[in-house]
This record gives sequence, structure tokens and C-alpha cells, in this order.
Amino acid sequence: MKIGILSRKASLYSTRRLREAAEARGHEVRVVNYLRCYMDITAERPSVIYHDYVQDEDRPEEELVMDAVIPRIGASYTYYGTAVVRQFEMMGVMSVNESQAITRSRDKLRSLQILSRAGVEMPTTTFAHSTRHTRGLIQRVGGPPVIVKLLEGTQGLGVVLAETRKAAESVIGAFRQLDANILVQEFIEEAGGDDLRALVIGGEVVAAMIRRAAPGEFRANLHRGGTAEGVELTPEERRTAVQAAEAMGLDVAGVDMLRSNRGPVVIEVNSSPGLEGVEAASGVDVADQVIQFIERESRGGSGRSSSRKTVRA
Ligand SMILES: Nc1ncnc2c1ncn2[C@@H]1O[C@H](COP(=O)(O)OP(=O)(O)O)[C@@H](O)[C@H]1O
Ligand SMILES: [Mg+2]
Repeated sequence: MKIGILSRKASLYSTRRLREAAEARGHEVRVVNYLRCYMDITAERPSVIYHDYVQDEDRPEEELVMDAVIPRIGASYTYYGTAVVRQFEMMGVMSVNESQAITRSRDKLRSLQILSRAGVEMPTTTFAHSTRHTRGLIQRVGGPPVIVKLLEGTQGLGVVLAETRKAAESVIGAFRQLDANILVQEFIEEAGGDDLRALVIGGEVVAAMIRRAAPGEFRANLHRGGTAEGVELTPEERRTAVQAAEAMGLDVAGVDMLRSNRGPVVIEVNSSPGLEGVEAASGVDVADQVIQFIERESRGGSGRSSSRKTVRA
């Protein structure tokens, strides 16, 4: 097959691994910088045109012909990146993941609402526009300590643990002053700074890791000094991860969960999960699993993946 990896940088670990895995299985692979593509959205013959440029040098244009694409769209380029993916879909090209599912997953609030509707367990979460509702927000998640989360945050940077009501009110007030959108969430203390990342592909957990927060830290993000190792998930954790990926309509997903007293709770679902940490921790060749999934889907599906049939929001 002709497989395109939509990525700004061929040297990124995940991009490199996906390319290697696809080549090893005999596919023709090309890494395409989606920002260097433009598109003809005309109905008769929609196309994606690759046009490279190096300073003043103009390179020839080229209409891209692919059987499947693997989007690895950076968070800052979601709008244009998903437009390119959608264009490929208009041309009948399979995309892992679909553009709609990527867009959906990039909005934390929308994601949690979709998961909630699907009955996926999550920490009690509240959201408001006005600081006049601060008392209610804190009350409804069970009172302090609470987690306050910036909707746009990544790598643990926008996540604050407020231990007292006063601290919670100050943080919420400060964020709102900056016009930032925030979630207030029940603090899952019993997780003890650990979180789980399950890699779900085509409706199955193929690899998992447990991330442990550095001493004195409650955030397990590797960027915040956390460490990762392979983990055996319980059947309930596997089911929850698969259910979350399915609700989001994602063929490939990194589902983050906490071990709470009432079982696994989902905190985040990532549509472009990094492969480096999870491959190292679990010893699983996740990139190869992604390519095998594409092969199965292009043959008409294995029947196991129901993600493409899920009702969408
Ligand atoms: N409700 C919570 N209770 C306890 N710990 C949490 C909670 N939410 C997040 N954390 C911790 O903070 C980390 C970062 O939170 P997350 O929602 O994943 O934000 P980010 O998108 O920045 O990674 C998680 O990996 C987890 O260790
Ligand atoms: Mg996270």
C-alpha cells in the first residue's frame, strides 16, 4: 500500500517508527509535512497538492496519491492539519485516525462530555463560565482538595492541586481573570501519583504502561519528572480503555486512567499518542500494530473494530 505519514518532522520518534514498521511490512511510505500541502476542494476531483519550498527555491507541485494516511498533527496545527486529513477522506483515502475524531479529542471538555454520555467512568468534573459559580464547582466535586485544570494545558502544565477552599477559589479566580477556560475535578488521591496509559488499536489494548509521579508531585507526566514501566491492566481497566476509544471514534488512542476506589476513571484520551514511552516501557512494537490495523481495515475490516461505526458528536 501507499501510506502517508502526515507529520512535520520525519526525525520524530513516532514518525520514524511508523515509517520503519510500514517499510518492514513491504509498504511504500512517505512522510508528508501537512503544512506544505494545499488542497483543491472542488467536487469533481478533490485533491491534495504537495508543494515544497526552500527559501527562494520553488519546487515542482505534486498531487498526492495515497491508500492510507496516518495523521500525526501537532496540537498547534489542529485546524489546518485536520482539514488536510478531511481532504484525503473526501478522496476516499483511509485515515487512522479520522479527522472528526481528532478534532473531537483535541477539546478536553467536549471529550469528557462524550465519554460521560457513553457511560465511561471519570473523576467528577465541573465547568462554568462565571466565577460566581466557584462555590458550586468546588462543592459538587466533593470539596477540597480539588484539581483545577486549564482546558488548553498539556504535559501537566495546566493542572493544579488546590488543597483548601481558599486555594481553590484563588486559582479559579486567577485563571478566569486571564479568560482561561478551566475544569474543576475531584482529586483522586488514592491514585497516589500514578496514572495508566493504555494504547488502544482497533478496539483492543495492545500495550500499557504505568507512570509514577516524582516524589512530592501528584502529576505523573514524564515531562514533570515521572517514570514509566510496563503494567498488566485488569480486565476492567482494559474494558474502560476500549470503551473510551470507541466512544471517541478513535482507531488508535492513548487512554489515560487513574486507579480510583471505585475502579478505573478516564482523565484523557489522546488521538496522537507518543510511541516512545509506551514502546520502551511495554516492549511492544506499537508501530507495527498500527500498520497491521491499516492492513486489516483496507481488506474490509476484521469485524473487531467497531470504532468506525460509533455514533458521533
Ligand atoms: N482528578 C485527578 N486526580 C488526581 N490526579 C490527577 C487528576 N487529574 C490529573 N491528575 C494527574 O495530573 C496529570 C496531568 O493531568 P492531565 O489531565 O493528563 O493533563 P495533561 O493534559 O496536562 O497531561 C495526570 O497524568 C495525573 O497524574
Ligand atoms: Mg495527560
